[in-house]
Amino acid sequence: MNTGTGRVVASIILVVAAYGAAHHAPGTGTVQAAARQDPRTDPPAPPATPAPPTGPATPEARPTASRDASSGADATTGGRPVDCRRAKCVALTFDDGPGPYTGTLLRHLAAHHAHATFFVVGQNVAARPSVLRGIAAAGHEIGNHTWSHPDLTKLPMAAVRAQVARCDRAVRSAAGISPALVRPPYGALDTTVRAAVRRPLVLWSVDTLDWLHRDSARVARVAIKGARPGAVILFHDIHPTTVRAIPKVLKALSREGYTFVTVSRLFGGHPPRLVYGAPHQL
Ligand code: NI
Repeated sequence: MNTGTGRVVASIILVVAAYGAAHHAPGTGTVQAAARQDPRTDPPAPPATPAPPTGPATPEARPTASRDASSGADATTGGRPVDCRRAKCVALTFDDGPGPYTGTLLRHLAAHHAHATFFVVGQNVAARPSVLRGIAAAGHEIGNHTWSHPDLTKLPMAAVRAQVARCDRAVRSAAGISPALVRPPYGALDTTVRAAVRRPLVLWSVDTLDWLHRDSARVARVAIKGARPGAVILFHDIHPTTVRAIPKVLKALSREGYTFVTVSRLFGGHPPRLVYGAPHQL
């Protein structure tokens, strides 16, 4: 890790620490101002999995009773949902899939009774609907990572809305659920994006930079070192090196007493409007 990255990580951890005190009370801890995220913290390339035909989305009927994606089965203690105000919780998040390695990742997570959050790209959901169903069936949370992974700050508001809506439709069509959370590609957001999305925008507190360093040992080391109670760790399950790193992360953090929960569980079902940001955004 170079010193620049170290400094960023250190400052973000401070933000998490400051934020942790407030994040359990719904309505508090909401971040009011948001600026462009440093683009170095997210992959520069769009998703690697093949895209399906990109014609206009077929309008679909809204499900009459859409299951709340945030309330799926989660880590339990003695049959009760884990309370992250008391337990040591960490949220592992996987972006840009589903992809060819997501099935393997699901097996790793199941082996450790871990739950995670998948911020999926709509066109990859359309290409692999059964993988998306497998994610949901295992009790993981599914978040919206737009239809085709553009930088939303470069789009007009109507196009931002269309990107989010089209991903929603793909997820509903595949698994019958509606994502409660959105993660903007590259962490890029501004006031237009926030006004267009009107859902919690989930960033992260630990960036493994797994898209840059395709090295399982390094990915595992950064994740394990960066974990704190309440941390949101960013991975990309489209990289085999990342998926190979996960058993080590799960083993090490389990030994440290962590419970692996979805982002919604981490916030007790009440995530603030913006979850985690770089210090300059606060
Ligand atoms: Ni992404």
